[in-house]
Amino acid sequence: MARGKFITFEGIDGAGKTTHLAWFRERLEQHIAAGGRSVVMTREPGGTALGESLREILLHQKMDLETEALLMFAARREHLAQVIEPALARGDWVLSDRFSDATFAYQGGGRGLPRDKLEALERWVQGGFQPDLTLLFDVAPDTASERRSSAREPDRFESESDAFFTRTRAEYLRRAEEAPYRFAIIDSSQSIPHIQKRLEELISTL
Ligand code: TYD
Repeated sequence: MARGKFITFEGIDGAGKTTHLAWFRERLEQHIAAGGRSVVMTREPGGTALGESLREILLHQKMDLETEALLMFAARREHLAQVIEPALARGDWVLSDRFSDATFAYQGGGRGLPRDKLEALERWVQGGFQPDLTLLFDVAPDTASERRSSAREPDRFESESDAFFTRTRAEYLRRAEEAPYRFAIIDSSQSIPHIQKRLEELISTL
């Protein structure tokens, strides 16, 4: 069977990524089921037993910025080796809630880690590997912050300022501009039905 495809969901906290992920997954499953393939749903940081332990630390424990970036990529290495690569090799499709664009956006854009360090880690951990498609849920930071305020107890990232999310968003958009062939920018200020229509169109091109 031909290799599967790797699709990632990205966006600042409160952009609505989680709402659309479950719907997208169901539609994607219907889209590829006839070919005998399945969808592997996963997330970052996380996706493996070790990765989930690292997630717990990353989301709740204070640490040096470089340590934070290294742990994100360490979890990613494990995720690629244990889950993503084997699934794609057997012909399944992988849908991940965040991947390396999040590290560039949060640790790079948001927290200010120099990009060349992140690029070096990306080369080390991924070689040239990138998602086949990245859905970037894009929304203004003040809208995202309103949406977040109704959510549960915020973690270390969710409690950041609008200024932090303005920088994070800008880095996401820069990454999208750098690799337009794999990014689809979804205007997340639109209604849910409107966004679902766009997602449907995207799935039909896969
Ligand atoms: P998120 O994906 O928003 O999950 P949930 O919906 O359960 O809150 O949470 C993951 C957080 O981790 C998010 O705030 C972004 C952050 N993050 C980084 O800072 N760098 C990364 O490389 C990744 C993958 C996530």
